[in-house]
Amino acid sequence: MADNEIKKGLAGVIADETAVSKVNPETNSLLYRGYPVQELAATQSFEAVAYLLWHGELPTDEQLDEQRATERAHRALAPEVKDAIDRLPLDSHPMDEVRTAVSVIGAIETAGISNVLDAVGTPEENLQRSLQLFAALPAIVSYGQRRRRGLEAVDSRDDLDYAANFLWLTFGEEPDAVVVDAFNRSMILYAEHSFNASTFTARVITSTLSDLYSAVVGAIGALKGPLHGGANEAVMHIFDEIGGASEVSGWLDKALAEKRKIMGFGHRVYKRGDSRVPTMKAALDTLVAHYDRPDVAELYETLEREFVERKGIYPNLDYPSGPAYNLIGYDTLTFTPLFVAARISGWTAHILEQQASNALIRPLSAYNGPDERHIAEYEPDT
Ligand code: SDX
Repeated sequence: MADNEIKKGLAGVIADETAVSKVNPETNSLLYRGYPVQELAATQSFEAVAYLLWHGELPTDEQLDEQRATERAHRALAPEVKDAIDRLPLDSHPMDEVRTAVSVIGAIETAGISNVLDAVGTPEENLQRSLQLFAALPAIVSYGQRRRRGLEAVDSRDDLDYAANFLWLTFGEEPDAVVVDAFNRSMILYAEHSFNASTFTARVITSTLSDLYSAVVGAIGALKGPLHGGANEAVMHIFDEIGGASEVSGWLDKALAEKRKIMGFGHRVYKRGDSRVPTMKAALDTLVAHYDRPDVAELYETLEREFVERKGIYPNLDYPSGPAYNLIGYDTLTFTPLFVAARISGWTAHILEQQASNALIRPLSAYNGPDERHIAEYEPDT
């Protein structure tokens, strides 16, 4: 029997089971396949965490080596993808570039599949597709930023692991170990978060037996929104608006009077702080020291303190991530595409899980439109 109470935004609704991650607001914790995300961020490469999300266990050295070899083989920016991005206006939103790139890859990889029942692919094919998108996204995201800056693409370096290679692709410089570590941690923290809006979007699309690429394209569309992934970009716009720590009080007075949502704060599930924030803030602190930017830490901490004091609403992961990516040198417009490059691991783990135990996702609705009425000139067939 349907539960008649409407749960707008599906707030508090348990839509299905998952073994991929556990978000626990009571203990303010996040487990990826049982491991606390803080422990993974402090000890693992993002490649190993992606393996864990896909396979359910951390990889052995041999398994990781095998995955790394496949990942390196698929890092190159495909010419069809580069061409598709180059055809977009230079001021297209980078999330639209990434969405287009994944769509092009999907059209190519599924070409020749004429029977729609075959589009979904086998678990083995989708695991391969997941790793290939994981491998391809750094070149796509970094090319977008370089193109906007009038720079040519940089070729991947097989001597660099995922995080270091991503930074190399973006900046064309040997990345510093401090920056690589902070970036690697951010990728792990962004990788997965149960049934968030973009992941649930991917599961809805997967539940119709559509293909993995269509599900990822839909997820990218969902993540772009400022209430979700787009918040990390919006945090930087807020920092630019405020200017410096001494301006925070006045800015907050005005923003709250205008009933603005302060981006980077609040969460649908966590209500007393986001479990990932302390780890990402620690990574931000290493970057503040590395780039000698105490002003960033002062502004960050002043806004956090004042907003928590006034509204009792705590930062989410997007709050420390935005300034961190800014210090590393990423354009604000590139922030959410970085979120895509990380969350592709979680999205595809959920797509594989949905495929393994599928039921079409189709909720009910409560009709509140006009009562039944009829067309005056209609004459029913007798
Ligand atoms: C992510 O789901 C996930 O797991 C997402 C994510 C992931 O890893 O996938 O964690 C990533 O998306 C993090 C969230 C990023 N978004 C933002 O930072 C945007 C700003 N945050 C808000 O829009 C809001 O906090 C949401 C959307 C994140 C959650 O909001 P809810 O749960 O729907 O709660 P709500 O909007 O109904 O807010 C409850 C009250 C409201 O006040 P009243 O209208 O009842 O008076 O709190 C207020 C809100 O106005 N409020 C805020 C606020 N967040 C909540 N007021 C000002 N600024 C905010 N940021």
